[in-house]
Amino acid sequence: MVEFMLPANSRVTRGKEWPKPEGAKDPRRFNVYRFDPDSGENPRVDIFWLDLADCGQMVLDALNKIKNEIDSTLTFRRSCREGVCGSCAFNIDGTNTLACTKPLADIRGAVNIYPLPHLPVVKDLVPDLSIPYAQYAFIRPWLQAETPVPGGERLQSPEERVHLNGLWECILCFCCQTSCPSYWWNGENGYLGPAVLLQAYRWIADTRDEATGQRLDDLDDPFRLYRCHTIMNCTNTCPKGLNPGEAIAEIKTALVRRQR
Ligand code: SF4
Ligand code: SF4
Ligand code: FES
Repeated sequence: MVEFMLPANSRVTRGKEWPKPEGAKDPRRFNVYRFDPDSGENPRVDIFWLDLADCGQMVLDALNKIKNEIDSTLTFRRSCREGVCGSCAFNIDGTNTLACTKPLADIRGAVNIYPLPHLPVVKDLVPDLSIPYAQYAFIRPWLQAETPVPGGERLQSPEERVHLNGLWECILCFCCQTSCPSYWWNGENGYLGPAVLLQAYRWIADTRDEATGQRLDDLDDPFRLYRCHTIMNCTNTCPKGLNPGEAIAEIKTALVRRQR
């Protein structure tokens, strides 16, 4: 009989439990994933307690409070705290989302905070984004146009510009990318994933861009594009309310149209 073994350090252990704040009016438990690959130790879940009566409203406020007042070694990315930089994406309460726009009031009971799933962990809540960023570079995410235009400014009509709505707002947080089962299994084999494909379509849909043919050629591949099976986890999880599943469908439609 075949026996499958998980790597020795894959088991997540119970970590340290910090004490509740004295006299807390609204105590809340936070279970936070911790991992330091250099330590040789297994990942663990540390338990922190905060008084929500003495904390900001968002999950990021709680993480900042833990780092500033309880354990300064807790490692996570954040920058804008406005939902525009895409840094603070974690798996919170079982869903990939942005800590800075996720209200604590939306979560019942203990708050579980893990890194984005199915990526190697650099430390604690920081995933290694090397592969998604290399895939992003592959789609050449910039305007490609060589036809000279008077004055050097490439204009669009309002009707042309409207096609970019629902695409330009993407902040590359990779919540969708790491929620996609197909990306979990095929991301390292070439599937570009929903965030990168939405970005690819952002340039295909741009009437000023002159590289549409090449862009479609680059995507016309069984792995890069066609590993999407329209499961739609991506669209369900996007914290900006975007629809990567639809963008992927538009790319497939464009490929069919040009064969006619
Ligand atoms: S629709 Fe495609 S990209 Fe989105 S989760 Fe499903 S398989 Fe992944
Ligand atoms: S489509 Fe949404 S979830 Fe995906 S990277 Fe862009 S903003 Fe994040
Ligand atoms: S800190 Fe920038 S999106 Fe949350």
